[in-house]
Amino acid sequence: MLFSFMKSKPVVADLSFLGVDMHSHLLPGIDDGLQTIEDTIAYMKALQAIGYRKFICTPHILNGLYNNSPETILPQLAIVQKALKEQQIAIEVAAAAEYMIDDLFENYLKDGKPLLTFGKQYILVEMSYMAEATNLYSVLYELIIKGLQPVLAHPERYNYFHTHFERYYEIKNRNVLFQVNLLSLCGYYGKQIKQTAERLIKEKMVEFIGTDLHHANHLKAIQNYVTTAEFYKLTKDIKWLNDTL
Ligand SMILES: [Fe+2]
Repeated sequence: MLFSFMKSKPVVADLSFLGVDMHSHLLPGIDDGLQTIEDTIAYMKALQAIGYRKFICTPHILNGLYNNSPETILPQLAIVQKALKEQQIAIEVAAAAEYMIDDLFENYLKDGKPLLTFGKQYILVEMSYMAEATNLYSVLYELIIKGLQPVLAHPERYNYFHTHFERYYEIKNRNVLFQVNLLSLCGYYGKQIKQTAERLIKEKMVEFIGTDLHHANHLKAIQNYVTTAEFYKLTKDIKWLNDTL
């Protein structure tokens, strides 16, 4: 039938059922995300217009590339909060970090360094896109015995798991929460990542959705995607933890 080839009608973007974005690179000038405070404010306003009320910004902490720490992240947060207040923009902003599971992170754990968490002691961790972290399970174990709740960033982007879906179950069984990228669902990183993200959601393995927004192309892709009925159909029956933050 002709109609089956037609795209469904765009719907009004409304991400208020998530309310809180807990993974983004919106803090200016400290990683590969936004670089100016003007952009930070403009992007936050654009995301507020599609239903977000709060942003927990998560700059990268990655050995040798982004040597961030509470000392570099929290002053940037304060600058953003001050600018929003001065401009009388009612957006709540907080900060945590996106920790790469690498040697630096392992040392942080060993040395008992203060780590940036959000919500109920949630800590956002990621792995390389090239290969699984060899210390993945030991790091997850360390986090849990410290009373922290690991949240694995964008599990769907680890291509090496795509043909080994059972690994996702294995990781989930170690008390790990999963966060899927809105950009993955958009198809921004390709079909295979989109399909994996959708499967993880359909199998009820995902607790958070994050934007992982870094730049203008990301914002455009998200703005378009959240006007599709497809997105709401996939996500509407799930009690997302975003809204508890
Ligand atoms: Fe990220």
